[in-house]
Amino acid sequence: MRIKCKEIFKKYRSYNAKSVINGASFELESGNSLSITGPSGVGKSTLLNVLAGIDEIDKGEIFFDDISFTNLSDSNKTLFRLNNISHIFQSPNLLMDFNVTENIMIPLIYQGNTKHKSKSLAIQCLEEVNLIEHLNSPISILSGGEAQRVGIARAMAMKSKIILADEPTGNLDSINSQLILRNLIEICESHMITLIVVSHDNDVIDKMRNKKTMIDGKII
Ligand SMILES: Nc1ncnc2c1ncn2[C@@H]1O[C@H](COP(=O)(O)OP(=O)(O)OP(=O)(O)O)[C@@H](O)[C@H]1O
Ligand SMILES: [Mg+2]
Repeated sequence: MRIKCKEIFKKYRSYNAKSVINGASFELESGNSLSITGPSGVGKSTLLNVLAGIDEIDKGEIFFDDISFTNLSDSNKTLFRLNNISHIFQSPNLLMDFNVTENIMIPLIYQGNTKHKSKSLAIQCLEEVNLIEHLNSPISILSGGEAQRVGIARAMAMKSKIILADEPTGNLDSINSQLILRNLIEICESHMITLIVVSHDNDVIDKMRNKKTMIDGKII
């Protein structure tokens, strides 16, 4: 799915409100990959949040293919996100009351898959992120890197048209980070998934077909 941001602006309503995103524009063709780098606090996570519809923009427009995401109602945004966008968060938001496999199965069931199919897909993706020994583990016992890998497996399993990944290798050692990166890229290429990765990891940046930097609220 093609992503297009047209002159978007975003300001948080806090005491020292400054424009975090300040007229950012970019386009990414369907099935393509893009890395975004930039200093801490510049607004990279905010950009992914507005692309995922978790946060609202103040001005501008976001398109997915020819659909104006900005103009969808809240409920249509939620539905659109469920069917089209996976978000790998900087700190993965996993459901503490469910085990590792169930955390991946739940969105798959919401997508309309049977319980049986969701489970086998979940296990397959957990294998790809090297977590087979934690299939039945509660989330609370996972290390930071393991929790991050569950978040990555969940995005891979959903096979959304778009994957937004925020520092996906930030908590990982180099062996796991290479394994996961390879699997993530392979899944994106074989399913024509559009991938945006926020990262400072040169191994990650090198493997993305497009590279951009966020500075002063703009994408350059
Ligand atoms: N919910 C919020 N309310 C108010 N300000 C916020 C909120 N979320 C983020 N900010 C501010 O917006 C700016 C951009 O934050 P953001 O998390 O997008 O940065 P980032 O580029 O992802 O940084 P990092 O590389 O450290 O993850 C920061 O100054 C941050 O303090
Ligand atoms: Mg961030």
